Amino acid sequence: MTNAPHLFQPLKLRSLETRNRVVISPMCQYSAHDGHMDDWHLAHLGRFAMGGAGIIFTEASAVQKSGRITHGCPGLWADSQIPGHARVAQFALRNGAIPAIQLGHAGRKGGMQRPWFGNGPLNDADTARGDMPWTPVGPSALPVAEGWPVPHELSEADIQDLIADYVSAAGRALLAGYKIAEIHGAHGYLVHSFLSPLSNKRSDKYGGDLTGRMRLALEVTEAVRTVWPTDLPLFFRTSAVDGAPEGWTLDDTVVLAGELEAIGVDVMDCSSSGIAGSATAGVARKRQPGFQVGYAERVRKDVDMTTMAVGLITHPQQAEDILAQGRADLIAIGREALVNPMWALHAAQTLGHDTVFETWPEQSGWWLAGRQKTSDFYDPEKAT
Ligand SMILES: Cc1cc2nc3c(=O)[nH]c(=O)nc-3n(C[C@H](O)[C@H](O)[C@H](O)COP(=O)(O)O)c2cc1C
Repeated sequence: MTNAPHLFQPLKLRSLETRNRVVISPMCQYSAHDGHMDDWHLAHLGRFAMGGAGIIFTEASAVQKSGRITHGCPGLWADSQIPGHARVAQFALRNGAIPAIQLGHAGRKGGMQRPWFGNGPLNDADTARGDMPWTPVGPSALPVAEGWPVPHELSEADIQDLIADYVSAAGRALLAGYKIAEIHGAHGYLVHSFLSPLSNKRSDKYGGDLTGRMRLALEVTEAVRTVWPTDLPLFFRTSAVDGAPEGWTLDDTVVLAGELEAIGVDVMDCSSSGIAGSATAGVARKRQPGFQVGYAERVRKDVDMTTMAVGLITHPQQAEDILAQGRADLIAIGREALVNPMWALHAAQTLGHDTVFETWPEQSGWWLAGRQKTSDFYDPEKAT
């Protein structure tokens, strides 16, 4: 295996070993029903297991009902939600991929429209179709932007309840069969909104200086680590920078990563932005290939920590180079996996790791190898 491209070398994470370095990034589907996943989620995530990815992340799953981004977001706040997750996790495991869960809370971004209805705060049209608004929560009574609901400022007692709900949700994730848990600390959602001085204006121990603003992230993580088995890995997704003046910086991320590592986080998943506006909005200029890789690289070097790079990594050679240059340890693929759910299998062919479909699912690999040997293929240049 040592001759394999970096992208196809296994990675040991506590007791787990990935089959390669390809991770499917969490991607909301806005298609759950009262927090329950259904066949859509099994098909959506199952195709990535059949497509050869090493780790597959289920989308942000809310630890509290009010922590959903939209009415279509799944949850883990109730036991009845476990079976939907279990089907996804078991399917991934049976097909060679490691199932991973992202534990989230939307915070002040809770109660948004599904993207195809506008991606803004819920309005009358949403209410008419039954998507009723709720009061979101946040570190301070500051809306995401003008026209968005003013969040309820979490009290210290609310924070204790929240941490308990993270722990319960992690326990349910474990029962469902997930092998990796990730705390969603990015994109302006609750944990990130406590980290950023742009959204956290508190004067108690959960606000103020860096130590105060990091407290919630660290307490949530520490509490989840107590129920997440020591032989299983824990990830943390960060918005490494706010990308806004006076906001959270990469230096802050390095400090946070060091603290997280000390309490048992194994992988820092380095995204960025989103503190104001929807999702990761806020990047004015056109995004470039691998635009966030530098964040994973800096954390990896300065904290000596395993990192995951994400963001416009689309070409197998690009992914291979990031790993070969020691800039990250794992490569997360998001939208390109929607274009090509078999991205990992095609990458293996592009990088010469698979020549005769030997890494493809046995249900199709044997046939495709045979077809390759015995067939000529349509060539538009030669067609008359
Ligand atoms: C449809 C969609 C839903 C997403 N949902 C989530 C999510 O649940 N949690 C999260 O951390 N990021 C989410 N993201 C961000 C992706 O995980 C990823 O970081 C981003 O798309 C950049 O990677 P890419 O250029 O490979 O797509 C989502 C992205 C898309 C396209």
